[in-house]
Amino acid sequence: MAHRQAQDTRRKRPSSAKKSGFGTREIFALTAPGFEEALADELRDLGLSGRSEKGGIAIQGGEGALRDICLLSRIASQVRVRVARGRVENLDDVARVVRAGPWKQFVHPTQPLRVSVSVTGSRFRHRPRVAKKVELAIKDALRGPRLPGPKPPRDEAVVHVRLAEGKLIASIDATGDPLYKRGWRTDVARAPIRENLAAAILRLADWDPGTPLVDPMCGSGTFPIEAATISLGRAPGASREFAFERFPSHDAAAMKKARAAAGVEALDVSAPIVGGDREEGAILAARKNAKRAGVLPRIELIQTTFHELEPPAETGLVVVNPPYGERVGARSKVGAIYRDFGKVMKERWSGWKIAILLPSPRHTGALDLPVEEVAAFKNGSLPVTLFVGRIP
Ligand SMILES: C[S@@+](CC[C@H](N)C(=O)[O-])C[C@H]1O[C@@H](n2cnc3c(N)ncnc32)[C@H](O)[C@@H]1O
Repeated sequence: MAHRQAQDTRRKRPSSAKKSGFGTREIFALTAPGFEEALADELRDLGLSGRSEKGGIAIQGGEGALRDICLLSRIASQVRVRVARGRVENLDDVARVVRAGPWKQFVHPTQPLRVSVSVTGSRFRHRPRVAKKVELAIKDALRGPRLPGPKPPRDEAVVHVRLAEGKLIASIDATGDPLYKRGWRTDVARAPIRENLAAAILRLADWDPGTPLVDPMCGSGTFPIEAATISLGRAPGASREFAFERFPSHDAAAMKKARAAAGVEALDVSAPIVGGDREEGAILAARKNAKRAGVLPRIELIQTTFHELEPPAETGLVVVNPPYGERVGARSKVGAIYRDFGKVMKERWSGWKIAILLPSPRHTGALDLPVEEVAAFKNGSLPVTLFVGRIP
C-alpha cells in the first residue's frame, strides 16, 4: 500500500527516541477491531513498530512514543500503558501482581481511582471484587514518598484490568477523551462516522492529499474535514489535552515542544475536496464543523443530491458512507438507493476510485460496481464492510 498521506506525520516524529520519565513500557494503542493493520501501518510511518493484537497494536516505548501516538495518530482511538501483568489464580495473586507495578509513575497517591475489569474465559466471575482488590493493591503501591511534581489532579486515574486465561494485564488510560474527539465535530447530522474510522478508510483507500476527494453523502462532513486537515498538515491531537499529562512522571517541557512542533508544516496541495448532501441541516453542520477545524476555505460543501453533483476533476476518490437503512432511511429503500447510486457513478464518475461502506456484502449486487472487500468493522453498533474499486 502506498500511504503518501502519512508523510505529514512522518516528518514530525522525532520525540520517541528521548528517554522519558516512565522508562520503557508496553504501550497499547487501540482502534476498532478490523483496523489493526491500518493502525500498524500508520504507526510504522511514525517510526513505531509493534505487535498486532485484537483491537490494537502493542508497542515497547516511553513517553516519547505515547506523545507521538496521541498527537499524530489519526487511526488510534485510545492509548493505554500496561503497568502490571502476571499469572493469577486467585484474588491474592491479583493483589500481588498489581502491587508490583510501578504505579507511582502514573498515579498520584491522593488521586481518585476508577478501575474497570473485563474477564474472559477465567474463573474470576465477580468483577466488582476484582476491581476493589486492584484498587487497594494500587493504593498499597502508592504508599511512601511521592514523586516530586505538580499538584495531584482532581481527575480520576482510569485503570483497565483484563483477565483472560489465567493472565492479568493492568493498564492505565493515557488519553482521557478518546482520540477521535479532535474537538471540531460538535455539530452532527444523522449517523456520523467516527473521525478515526474515516481516517482509516482514507488510508485503506490509499488516498493522498494530491488526489481530489468527493463525499457525495457527507452528512456532518467527517470525510472531507478529516481529509482537509490531513492535506493542511494539521496534527489531529495538537489542540487537546491527554490524561498522560497528569502522570507524576510526565515530561511537561518535552510535551510543550512536541505540541508546538506538531502540525505546523502545511503541505502545499490544492486538489479539490468536496462534500455534498441533499439535507440543508447536514451541510450547515458540516460547514460549522469545517470552520471549527479551521479548514472551511479548503473544502467545498454543496447542498445537492448525488444525482446532480458534478465531478470536480477527471479522476479522484469518491468516499461514501450511504444510508444503511438502520439509522438513516428505511431498510426497504436502501437497495434502491445503492442501485441508483451505482448507476450514477457509472454514468458520471467513470475512472474515479470508489470507497463505499455497506451494511452487508449482499448489497454489492445492487451497487453493481467492481469493488472488493477491504475491511469489516463496526460503525457504532452496526456491522459494516468497506469496499474499494474503480468505477468503469
Ligand atoms: C450515513 S449518513 C453520512 C454520515 C457522514 N459520513 C458523517 O460522518 O456525518 C448518510 C447521508 O446521506 C445523505 N443522503 C441520503 N440520500 C441522499 C442523496 N440522494 N443525495 C445526497 N445525499 C443523500 C443523508 O442526508 C445523510 O446525511
